[in-house]
Order: sequence, then structure tokens, then C-alpha cells
Amino acid sequence: MIRPYRPSDLSRLREICVLTGAAGGDATGRWSTDDLLPDLFLEPYTTFAPGWAWVLELDGVIQGYLVAVSDTAAFVAWWRDTWTPWFAVRYPRPGEPYSEEEELVLRGYRPEVMLVDEHEGYPAHLHIDLLPPAQGRGWGAKLIDRLRSELADVGVPGVHVTLDPENTAARGFYERLGFRALPSSSPAEPVLGIATSRAR
Ligand SMILES: CC(C)(COP(=O)(O)OP(=O)(O)OC[C@H]1O[C@@H](n2cnc3c(N)ncnc32)[C@H](O)[C@@H]1OP(=O)(O)O)[C@@H](O)C(=O)NCCC(=O)NCCS
Repeated sequence: MIRPYRPSDLSRLREICVLTGAAGGDATGRWSTDDLLPDLFLEPYTTFAPGWAWVLELDGVIQGYLVAVSDTAAFVAWWRDTWTPWFAVRYPRPGEPYSEEEELVLRGYRPEVMLVDEHEGYPAHLHIDLLPPAQGRGWGAKLIDRLRSELADVGVPGVHVTLDPENTAARGFYERLGFRALPSSSPAEPVLGIATSRAR
């Protein structure tokens, strides 16, 4: 069952973010703290836009989520004003040269990396993560449909997703659903987009 996010879901969603955070696989122990990925890729979303978050609950257990923002530019502005100060208390600003982990930490200080050239047509963006037992059963497609439909209802024309180039399975999924590479997409930073749709 797909249902709207509730604040009491947060700790489970943070776990799922880590368990799917290495190009779709388990990222536990990959970085010096397992908080880093959810502090960048989950909790800012549920904090800024809890109404654009859904969870997948199967047999009473949360097995996945989709989080999104409808307006990436507004999210970036909020991040700069609100999230970066929160983040900076926990993660000191790294100095050059940057390690792989420090490149990630820098995202907390540079939310503008989320802005894509095609903002006008594809202002929304999303993250979706399902644990292995929930994968391959159509739930991902249903979650994306739900998002596209609700975005269309409020007049948002399109949604984009930025991919880890190593996550070829996710790319196959998005392309199957009709997402296409946007002009600003590059092999190192693939960006795929799709129009929203009223069909549910
Ligand atoms: C990627 C992910 C969201 C896909 O969700 P899912 O529920 O497993 O996918 P679905 O079962 O809804 O698949 C929908 C369609 O995409 C197709 N598809 C799924 N994975 C595919 C792949 N690797 N290549 C080609 N097509 C694929 C399915 O066959 C299905 O097509 P069909 O309707 O013709 O049968 C999910 O597997 C996941 O969360 N993986 C781990 C975390 C992750 O990688 N997140 C994405 C980060 S950008």
C-alpha cells in the first residue's frame, strides 16, 4: 500500500536511504557516518516538503519511499537559508583537495548543484528507494505515477531526476517509464525528465 508520509516514518526512511544508497545497493559503513546520505538525500525533503513524500508499506513494514519537491529553485533557496546552517553544525566545511566523502559533504553547502538548465519545464525532482523485497513488483512505477499525477493537479509541468551514473538499473527503470535525457544531461551527471500526467 502506498500512503502519504508521516513524521513517525522518518527513522525507517533514513535506514532505507542508507540501505539503497550505493548505486541502489547497501551503503552501510561506506562513509564515516551513516547519517550523511539521509542528511543530504532524505531529511531535507521530508522537512521542506512532507506533502510530496509517500511510503510503501507491505504487510505493515515500510519497504520504500518516494520523496520530491515540486519547485527545485525554491528548495535550493530554503536549503541555503535553513538546511546549510543545520548541516554545518554537524559537518565541518571541507578544504581542498576534496576526498570522495568531502565532495558529498560539499553538497550540503552548495545546494545550487541541484539546479538544472531545464528548470522551467521540469521544476520538480525526486528520489525513490525501495528495498529488494519490494523491487520488481510494479511499486516503483506506481509511486512515480502518483507523483506525476499530483504534480499535474497543481500545474507543475515536469519532473526530473539526477542519476548516479553507476546505477544502470535505475536508468533502465526510468527510461521504461518514459523519462528521457534532458539536454543538460552528461555521462558523468545523467539528468532525465518526464512531463507530468493527469492519468492515475
Ligand atoms: C529503481 C527502482 C525505484 C525501480 O522500482 P521497481 O518497483 O523495482 O520497478 P517496477 O517494478 O515498478 O518497474 C517498472 C517498469 O520498469 C521496468 N524496469 C525496472 N527495472 C528495470 C531495468 N533495470 N531495466 C529496464 N527496465 C526496468 C520494469 O520491467 C517495469 O516495466 P514493465 O511495466 O514493462 O514490466 C527500485 O528498484 C529501487 O528502489 N532500487 C534501489 C534504489 C535505487 O536504485 N533507487 C533509484 C535511485 S535514482
